[in-house]
Formats: sequence, structure tokens, C-alpha cells
Amino acid sequence: MTSAPADPQTPSGYPTADARPPRLEIRNLRRFFDGRAVVDDVSLQIEAGQVMCLLGPSGCGKSTTLRMIAGVEMQDSGEIYVDGKLICDTVFRVPPERREIGLIFQDFALFPHLSVADNVAFGLKGSKDEKRARVQELLSKVSLAQYIDEFPHQLSGGEQQRVALARALAPKPRIMLMDEPFSGLDNRLRDGIRDETLALLKEEDAAVLLVTHEPEEAMRMADEIALMRAGKIVQQGAPYNVYTRPADRAAVSFFSDTNVLRSEVNGALAQTPFGQFLAPGLPDGTEVDIVFRPQHVKIDFDRNGRGPNPTATDGVAARGVVQRARFLGNESLVEFRMDFDGCVLKATVPNVFLPEAGRVMWLTVRRDRCFVFPTGG
Ligand SMILES: Nc1ncnc2c1ncn2[C@@H]1O[C@H](COP(=O)(O)OP(=O)(O)O)[C@@H](O)[C@H]1O
Ligand SMILES: [Mg+2]
Repeated sequence: MTSAPADPQTPSGYPTADARPPRLEIRNLRRFFDGRAVVDDVSLQIEAGQVMCLLGPSGCGKSTTLRMIAGVEMQDSGEIYVDGKLICDTVFRVPPERREIGLIFQDFALFPHLSVADNVAFGLKGSKDEKRARVQELLSKVSLAQYIDEFPHQLSGGEQQRVALARALAPKPRIMLMDEPFSGLDNRLRDGIRDETLALLKEEDAAVLLVTHEPEEAMRMADEIALMRAGKIVQQGAPYNVYTRPADRAAVSFFSDTNVLRSEVNGALAQTPFGQFLAPGLPDGTEVDIVFRPQHVKIDFDRNGRGPNPTATDGVAARGVVQRARFLGNESLVEFRMDFDGCVLKATVPNVFLPEAGRVMWLTVRRDRCFVFPTGG
């Protein structure tokens, strides 16, 4: 075993020679505007072939983070490394055009006066034949080989987006940065283009940082999601983990509609009409929110004034009255006014379930799908 040679440009934390550094690493990036940190100590690592989604509401600092990595915005502090080599800190800076980074934005302007082939070839070096071969390869990968000599205005929005993707990937960038690339496309096109894009990105083996404010898009595209809020990464992990083990109440509601019950901790338990919930580590008297998603509410019929018996997985049933029910396509959404304090709880049910308003029913909630957070946390 040999140890890695000392390299002043290699960040610490990769102890052995065979521990490959991440393709892209950003460390403690900060950016202030008007004295406000809009990107506040953001650190991320992305491997080659990995798709990381930076997901968060509008204005949380996603695009600013991306622009710093691209090199078109300077950070106030923090460093950026590619394959373990420093490319930018507050003193040293590789210019944007030498970073080998591909970029795609929502308004991915193609050059209108250039053919599809010339658009894709734009950033390519090499002989005419080499360029033509790479252009053909990429255009067939995005199923646009037949449009090679057309001009952008002859293509649909979705086709133009695929040309932009081919153009960005043509020089084999080590990193792809994509800022809300699909939000300009109409809904029906979007899923297909997302899937096709993802397949191509995986084939080209770039490290991908995709910015989006849409949870469904992040769930669909990401190997890993970094959830961002007010300039900070609040949670990071595989989509399943971020969805099922949210860091806080806002993380739950960012992904879906939620129901919330209020309670107070007593002996590490929070009492509710649906039974007790564990509230480990929270002192007595702490106000807590018990948060759960509509799809984890179970509905039972009234049986002579009674609901189902309590169980370990579903807890205690509580009585409610149907307020309204809507069919949403894949599921039905039913709203109940609850007897215990008059609050409204939502339940979603697969397929068609449209009970009439005024009907008495009993609700239970999947206990392992409930999250207990201190109120306001
Ligand atoms: N050049 C700028 N000057 C001043 N404020 C800016 C500038 N760029 C972005 N901001 C502010 O920084 C915050 C984050 O912006 P941005 O990174 O574009 O968010 P996102 O992409 O998540 O919607 C916003 O409040 C925005 O108004
Ligand atoms: Mg943005």
C-alpha cells in the first residue's frame, strides 16, 4: 500500500491513494447580497455518474450556488474542487471556460442562425470529421439525427431542449449543471424528456447537479437530493430517505400535503385522539406537531357508532364527518371535520372513493408514518 503524495491542492479527508476524490466538491460556500447570506455555508460532494438534485423553494439560493460552481459568480468564502483539484477559492480562480462544465438553463438559448449540427458542434475541438461524428452520435442519442441540418426555429420546444442537452454534453464535460431545465416545457412532454435526459447523463458519466423547485422532478431524477432552504442545506440523502425521514416539519410539507395535530409532551409521549406518539428526547411541556401525509390516513366505516379496534400499527380510531370528496385521477381526496376538536384532516385513497358529505367515518393514521417535531421547529 502506498500513501498519496502530498499535494497542496488536494483537500484533506481522502486518506488513502485508492480513495478517489469526488468529481465535484464544494466546501462551505457563502455568498452575500446586501449583507444577507443567500448561500450560507453550503457543502456538497457529487461523484461521476451521480445525479444530485438541489431542491428548494424559489429564492433559497439554488441558482446562486450553481453560478458559483460555473464560475460566473464569485463566492465570498468557500472552495470548489473538481477531481480533488482546487478550481476556485477566494484568491485562486480557474476561469469559467476552462472548468469543463456543461450548463443548461431554463431559457437554453440555441443560436438561431446556426443549424442544429453547428449548435451542437459549437464548443467542440478537433477535425471537421471528428466533430461531425460526435454531433451525429449525440443527436442520435437524443433521437434527433434526422434534424441535423435543420434550424432551431423548425423544432418544437422539447426538441430544442434536447439539442441544448446534446450541445452541453458534446465536449464531454466532467460536470453538468442544470438550472430548472424542464420548467419551460409543457407537462405532457416533460416526463419523457426527463427520462431520456437522465439516461443520456448516466451514459456520459458526468457528475450532475440539477436545480429544481419541484419535488416530483427531484424524486424522479435524483440519486441524491440536497434539500435547501434559506441558503442552507437542511437535509441530504436518497429520495426515499428524504421523503420518509424528513428533517423537520417544513421538509414534510415541501414534498406533499400534510395534516398536523398539536400536542404537548408528557413523559416522552405526546397524547392525541389517535393514541400516543413517542417524543424521545423532548422535555415535558414541549409543544409538538404530529405531522402526517394524507396517504397515510386510513378510513373505516361506522359500525353502530364504533370504529375499528385499536391496533399497534394504526393506533386509535377517531370519528369524523365527510366535508367533501374529490376525484383527482389516480386517487380521491376526502376531507373530514373531526369530532375531537373540529379540525379538518385530509385523506387520500387510491382510485375512486367519493363518500357523500355528512357521512360519519372513522380515521386512523399509520403510526410509523407520523413525525413528531417541536412546534415552530
Ligand atoms: N445579483 C444579485 N443581487 C442581489 N440579490 C440577488 C442577486 N442574485 C440573487 N439574489 C437574491 O438571492 C436570493 C437567492 O436567489 P437565487 O439563487 O436565484 O434563488 P433560487 O435559484 O433558489 O430561486 C434571492 O433572494 C435573490 O433575490
Ligand atoms: Mg433559480
